[in-house]
Amino acid sequence: MFGQHRETSRKAVSNPKIEKQVFGKTADGREADLYTLKNAKGMEVAISTYGATIVRIKVPDRQGKTEDVALGYDSLEGYVHDKAYFGATVGRYANRIAHGKFTLDGHVYMLPKNNGDNTLHGGTVGFNKHIWTAKDVSTPAAPALQMSYLSKNGEEGFPGNLSVEVRFTLNNDNSLKIEYAATSDKDTVVNLTNHSYFNLAGQGHGDILGQEVQLHASRFTPIDANLIPTGEIASVKDTPLDFSKSTAIGARINADYEQLKLAHGYDHNFVLDGNPMRKEVLAARAFDPGSGRVLEVFTTQPGIQLYSGNFLDGTVAGKGGVKYPRRSGFCLETQHFPDSPNHPKFPTTELKAGRWFRSTTTYKFSTQ
Ligand code: GLA
Repeated sequence: MFGQHRETSRKAVSNPKIEKQVFGKTADGREADLYTLKNAKGMEVAISTYGATIVRIKVPDRQGKTEDVALGYDSLEGYVHDKAYFGATVGRYANRIAHGKFTLDGHVYMLPKNNGDNTLHGGTVGFNKHIWTAKDVSTPAAPALQMSYLSKNGEEGFPGNLSVEVRFTLNNDNSLKIEYAATSDKDTVVNLTNHSYFNLAGQGHGDILGQEVQLHASRFTPIDANLIPTGEIASVKDTPLDFSKSTAIGARINADYEQLKLAHGYDHNFVLDGNPMRKEVLAARAFDPGSGRVLEVFTTQPGIQLYSGNFLDGTVAGKGGVKYPRRSGFCLETQHFPDSPNHPKFPTTELKAGRWFRSTTTYKFSTQ
């Protein structure tokens, strides 16, 4: 589906730029692997078959010092118990579906409610809790890993056998390109994202409130007290959600503004500007003044969720045993809008039987 490839994985680990190791075994005996992709610039990305999860992103700062900028765990066990979605591939439907319910082709589909009265990130056992099949699809130019997963008809309440492929390519410009493709044998809904939490100073280095974000979004989808879109599309102008200029995440996060209070910080879907052709465009830029690290996010998707790690509470031990306090990582989740199946005016997340869903997101690192 991304051009020619064979079904066998004979040469799965023969490329020297990808190293494979066993990550661990789940309690029910499923083995998960960890693949490490390295480029010629010293950047390294590790991805597990457990949840097609990005476990590590090592990038240099302006002095050339490399740090892991992704929150996560040292071992598989951490990911098995994880509730924060660190680095995970999220599906079948990223973000929330109100009341765990939607109607498609006249049928009402009921989903498990795993977030109050709503379905969050695919339900009780989302794509992040399954073992994916990995295949080395590297080219001479770049190491690349393709992950596939078949989500069965009725899994977590969703209709259709959905075949999903996510391809990760680590380029020499220090960009990680993620290509998503999915097809179903029955009409369904789909919304896929990656849920990496970034701390550009390095994971475990305190909070991200001093790190800056710029969004190419002049509008957002306001939410209610359950973090469900009201259906309105509102301007960010004159609000603390205006990130048209690069602004520290913490500069206005505690402002007396209803949308921030409802979400306990930033946890909003922004409507990306000017992308009628759905080409990959610059959606967001983040900058850490201390280390000089810059992250640019390019996507074909219509929306992006800026989440400021409000639900992290310092109880979970991450890499190296570090407890991640509140707001110690931020997410830039490229996506279709939350709860779209219940909002006919939002860009559709319906996927017709036999058709392909495709999207692309690139995380590009540099320094300034
Ligand atoms: C998304 C949601 C948040 C939260 C995190 C996971 O960003 O919008 O509300 O659920 O995932 O903790």
